[in-house]
Amino acid sequence: MNEQTLSKLILERSRYRKQGNFVDADALRKYIENTYNCVVEDKNGGETICVTADKVSDRKKRKREEESLKQQKQRQKQYKGIDLKKLKEIPRARTLRNKKLNFQLKKQKARFFHFAEFIKLTFLNDVWFRNYKKSTITCMDICGGSGNLSWEILSGKHLTKLDDEKRFKLRCIVVDPKIINFSLHKSKLIVKQCNIDTTCKDHHCDSNTEKNLLMAKGLHPKIQKKLNCGQMRKINNYLHASKGFEQITTFFNNQQFMEAHKSIWNKADLIIGLHPDEATDDIIEMSMQDFKPFVCVPCCVFPNKFPNRKLKASGKVVRSLNQLIEYIMEKADETNQKKHLMRKCMPDNVDVQMLYVVKKVTIEGIPGPCNEAIYGKYYVI
Ligand SMILES: C[S@@+](CC[C@H](N)C(=O)[O-])C[C@H]1O[C@@H](n2cnc3c(N)ncnc32)[C@H](O)[C@@H]1O
Repeated sequence: MNEQTLSKLILERSRYRKQGNFVDADALRKYIENTYNCVVEDKNGGETICVTADKVSDRKKRKREEESLKQQKQRQKQYKGIDLKKLKEIPRARTLRNKKLNFQLKKQKARFFHFAEFIKLTFLNDVWFRNYKKSTITCMDICGGSGNLSWEILSGKHLTKLDDEKRFKLRCIVVDPKIINFSLHKSKLIVKQCNIDTTCKDHHCDSNTEKNLLMAKGLHPKIQKKLNCGQMRKINNYLHASKGFEQITTFFNNQQFMEAHKSIWNKADLIIGLHPDEATDDIIEMSMQDFKPFVCVPCCVFPNKFPNRKLKASGKVVRSLNQLIEYIMEKADETNQKKHLMRKCMPDNVDVQMLYVVKKVTIEGIPGPCNEAIYGKYYVI
């Protein structure tokens, strides 16, 4: 391999990127980096360069040194007159940037709480669900990531208490190709709720060989190390049976998902998608097609992946979040025009007619701009 081949490969990668073929571009980048032991960097001007791994590590080291020097100076300014060497522990610098970052992080984390609250109030406290004949309500949390939203819905300890909360059991199925990773705090909580003594010295369980321990595999590695197979099984059962947590590690898309999990889809009573990336269209289209109650908060647009998304009114390709919401609402209007009705028998034997309607709402607690929810549900008419 020589310089000429390298520049040819870099050119080919640029061509892939221009064509929007990011999968091949990424594969080629990995190949170049492994073969030439270098790091491929894209400059602002569109130029691509290959930097040796040594140079990158030198640059990182220099940056770290500069950062620590800056922090030292900041601390000296903050603790004027105090000998820092005598202080056992120096508090973290409370820079404005840190404060802003922490604030943003807290707001982002709070989105699960606010969204769960919205779901409880809009759906679970609704006539449709309150007068349900089934004893279990199944929520399908598509693109659930680390399962935080499902956790919030299932635990719901700080959610507004609902009168009929005890009338049904909730079950949340997370559909995401990634195995749920519980934080250390949550893993400790789960172990505590299962009354498991982690101090007993026993061989720890190799969860890789135990195929059925899907949920327990998501426990924090520090906790997993202390558990034996029996304990892992107990945790898995607890998460499934008592807590109602389940996971399907697969992509959610129209054909393949339906082929493999049609019965689960049919049983689902509420479809949820919080920032569901590429699955946004499928969640909304499939729910509206089957007139299933759903709520989806779109976020990323991926204009290169979805060039077929075109606005009816202007004919423009969807490139921004606002356009994506407009595009979805155009589809929602079509569904609303179908005037799908359903008869529902209430417990006191009153027969009511319900109409399926898709609407849009802004959820206040979720930080913007990705806080517009599109939801479909049944209303008594
Ligand atoms: C932006 S994250 C959102 C995660 C979570 N809902 C949250 O709000 O923190 C998007 C998630 O969608 C998952 N994902 C992307 N495309 C998917 C698809 N077609 N089917 C299922 N999951 C998908 C990714 O693995 C990722 O965990």
